[in-house]
Amino acid sequence: MNKVDIEKYFKPNLKDARMRKNDAQYKKFVLSKEYKMLGEGKKYRIQTYGCQGNEADSEIAAGILEEIGFVKAESENDADLILLNTCAIRENAENRIWGELGRLKSYKKTNPNLILGVSGCMPQEEKVVNRLLKRYPYVDLVFGTHNIHKIPEYIKRLKYEEQRVIEVYSYEGAIVENLPKTREHKHKAWIHIMYGCDEFCTYCIVPYTRGKERSRHKEEIIAEVKDLVKKGFKEVTLLGQNVNAYGKDLNLDYTFGNLLMDLDKTGIERIRFTTSHPRDIDDVTIEAFKNSKHVMPHLHLPLQSGSNKVLKRMNRGYTKEVYLDAIKKLKEARNDISLTTDIIVAFPTEKEEDFLETLDIINEVGFEGAYTFIFSPREGTPAYNFENSITEEVAKDRLRRLNEVVNKGYLEGSKKFEGKTVKVLVDGFSKKKEGILAGYSEHNKLVNFEGGEELIGQIVNVKITKAMTWFLIGKHVK
Ligand code: 5AD
Ligand code: SF4
Repeated sequence: MNKVDIEKYFKPNLKDARMRKNDAQYKKFVLSKEYKMLGEGKKYRIQTYGCQGNEADSEIAAGILEEIGFVKAESENDADLILLNTCAIRENAENRIWGELGRLKSYKKTNPNLILGVSGCMPQEEKVVNRLLKRYPYVDLVFGTHNIHKIPEYIKRLKYEEQRVIEVYSYEGAIVENLPKTREHKHKAWIHIMYGCDEFCTYCIVPYTRGKERSRHKEEIIAEVKDLVKKGFKEVTLLGQNVNAYGKDLNLDYTFGNLLMDLDKTGIERIRFTTSHPRDIDDVTIEAFKNSKHVMPHLHLPLQSGSNKVLKRMNRGYTKEVYLDAIKKLKEARNDISLTTDIIVAFPTEKEEDFLETLDIINEVGFEGAYTFIFSPREGTPAYNFENSITEEVAKDRLRRLNEVVNKGYLEGSKKFEGKTVKVLVDGFSKKKEGILAGYSEHNKLVNFEGGEELIGQIVNVKITKAMTWFLIGKHVK
């Protein structure tokens, strides 16, 4: 068989990134000897922006850097490599990065050997790479979402070549297994179960920055979870842009629901996942919510809008009736389920009456939380060219009114637990209050309570004494 030129493109473009070919390939990460000592005596720092997918990618980048000898830097001051793992989802996410690069430039004066890198979703946009090329000559390393596994090669090139390294692929390439990971937590873990997105919502840049939907083999995922159980991990969060599409590309008649059922038997205490797509929530997944022991009773199900007209223009592929039907089935399967969502306001042509429909449905479902956004036009997506006459003032006003309703839901969701005893996986001490432990309940509520260090990493009973909007206060009980 002829060799396939997997990694074809070095500078991205959104048109190529739109292409979908069903030719997923799999390979294993193997660290060649020549790279092993590259980072000896050097320190790295990674700043992560955006979604959990990026958090998981940063753990992989950290794992690879440590394999080649780097150690984690305590501060920016003593870092030899600073990598910004970026998000492209909204314009303000990008603006933060441009500002941050300006700030970090000064470290190059005190440490001329400092490597400054940009990775993640932003470099997947051609215009970002062009801007980095033209206006940020002090950025040494640029790569995207498809080639994290090539970090060792890039570090070597930076060491021996005069040129900076800018290598971003529009084409996804293979799924790479066996990647080292330096996990942020010792008892809970992110696990990519699939990559990319084929939904093409008209506002969203992700199908371009993260490529086509492609699933990891279930055997790899199950083995990873079993290994985590052995190491004492208590919780996994399965990651994908649309986890409900898991397995579709593999044509094995094995879907996300089947995966949940199989993972339920691995011995892991808690299973969470994000993000779900309302159209793809199937009966097997609902069954898994009902019959599994370890799938947690919380679902984040982005609605985006409560108006069918707007949903259609967003190309979401469902109506509000379909969404409500899925919610009904979920509540029947698991009546205590906590639901959260994402909403975009001021999508082009959203009228006041459309917005009011969104408020209605939020009240009707009883969401216990939501991420809320003002539409941000992303160049290269269809909605970028939609005529938009909504003023900033109207958009901000809608966001404010939306947040009022959402916050009421948060508080009501918290209040449900007052007086009840909940199981909390203890993360560590609260950053805000000394001597107070913080962790998450099964319903994904942040819980604060007094306790000692020995409880960190354990699942403990906490009786809730007071419900606040964003968190619960309780007392450790046996
Ligand atoms: N503008 C505003 N919000 C967006 N999101 C995605 N793309 C955009 C955009 N262009 C929101 C959606 C998605 C969440 C991760 O970000 O609500 O669910
Ligand atoms: Fe941001 Fe989306 Fe990329 Fe995650 S996948 S980093 S949310 S653009």
